[in-house]
Amino acid sequence: MRVRRCGALVIEPNEIPSLDIGDLLSGGDGVRTRVEIRVWAAHLDEYRRVSPAQAQWLLQCSAEYWQDLPADADSRALVHSLLALELLVAEEVPDAETGVGPVSRSTPGEGHWWPLAAIHHRHSRWQGVDSVTDMERSQLVTAHDLRQRLGSPPPAVPDQGPLPGQIGLPEVPASALESLGRRRVTCRNFDPGRSVSMAQLAAALQQTFRAHAQLEPAPGLVFLKKNVPSAGGLHPMEACLLVQRVEGLAPGLYRYHPLRHALTPVVPECELDADTARRFLAGQHWFVDAAVLVVFVCRFERSLWKYRNHRKVYRAMMLDAGHLSQALYMAATECGLGAFVTSAINEVDIEKALALDPLKEGPLAICGMGWRAQERTTAELDPLQGAWPAPGGA
Ligand SMILES: Cc1cc2nc3c(=O)[nH]c(=O)nc-3n(C[C@H](O)[C@H](O)[C@H](O)COP(=O)(O)O)c2cc1C
Repeated sequence: MRVRRCGALVIEPNEIPSLDIGDLLSGGDGVRTRVEIRVWAAHLDEYRRVSPAQAQWLLQCSAEYWQDLPADADSRALVHSLLALELLVAEEVPDAETGVGPVSRSTPGEGHWWPLAAIHHRHSRWQGVDSVTDMERSQLVTAHDLRQRLGSPPPAVPDQGPLPGQIGLPEVPASALESLGRRRVTCRNFDPGRSVSMAQLAAALQQTFRAHAQLEPAPGLVFLKKNVPSAGGLHPMEACLLVQRVEGLAPGLYRYHPLRHALTPVVPECELDADTARRFLAGQHWFVDAAVLVVFVCRFERSLWKYRNHRKVYRAMMLDAGHLSQALYMAATECGLGAFVTSAINEVDIEKALALDPLKEGPLAICGMGWRAQERTTAELDPLQGAWPAPGGA
């Protein structure tokens, strides 16, 4: 048997402090620190703890070239322990009967990712997180909490006073587009009983995810034209819908087809229940009653086809998501609905429901839309009174 290490990994010395009463009593600061060595790999969902000897072995082991098992028993045991941790890959021996092989057992799914981006993506995903409970536990819920616990943030605008040479710009009347933008307010108060119409949903998808044209400059290379820009014109983002209340559409999961402007039902891998939206939204109950959730599923492989091992591509895919979310906000606002975007989502739970392989396709954000409730119970940032007119209509 020969081995190599997995392609994308980072070795992190992590310092863990603990209280040392003896040191405290003898006048020290009472803090003892031990170093735990963590290995983060792009193909694993959890980091692995390793010993210094295991870390050293990984550092001298190639990801490209197979190497024979070491001769001495201790080193062999080390290699086997790293194989068990899935940080080393074994070359399968040739089949004695068929003579086929040797065959490499490649590290699954690393594709053309820049290793640090792949590791960041894989390990920044959440599973089963309730972000609201976490915020409550750390007392970081209200603006008052934030100010009290974190102090003042850097100023909203760095230079408040007049600056030498500063040129004032003319006031111009707001266009229809700008007026619409001023009415865009992140909605955290949805009407749990009111459905959106099929036309409203269609309008929102048409303005965001629909491809209005396609171009094939070379066989098999197709560029889509949408209302939003996309890095490389690749448009890797797909819309997967969790429909809760749309007239004429059964609740459930759907995938949007950007060329046919059509929805295909998706059979979920796990049963959907009343708690699915809350689970997807990491406990953010103020978004749960949106009539539709639009999960932004990025087909990473589409962008990585062009931007191989590229340091910027993950950032570019995030920016694509930002453009789509703004377009969806505007479309929803235009048809009288409230909308939101959040990146605080349980990616792993969503991947499970949609049967996604996380380094090939994965959720980057969730947008939602629906009718606003009559009453505002959760805070919204609406100083322009674009969504919540002042009582008495002032
Ligand atoms: C990338 C991104 C992530 C956001 N995530 C959350 C979130 O997790 N929860 C939430 O309540 N709002 C979230 N928001 C909404 C912002 O809080 C909101 O845009 C901000 O407070 C300004 O309010 P406005 O959108 O009404 O102008 C997010 C917005 C963006 C752009």
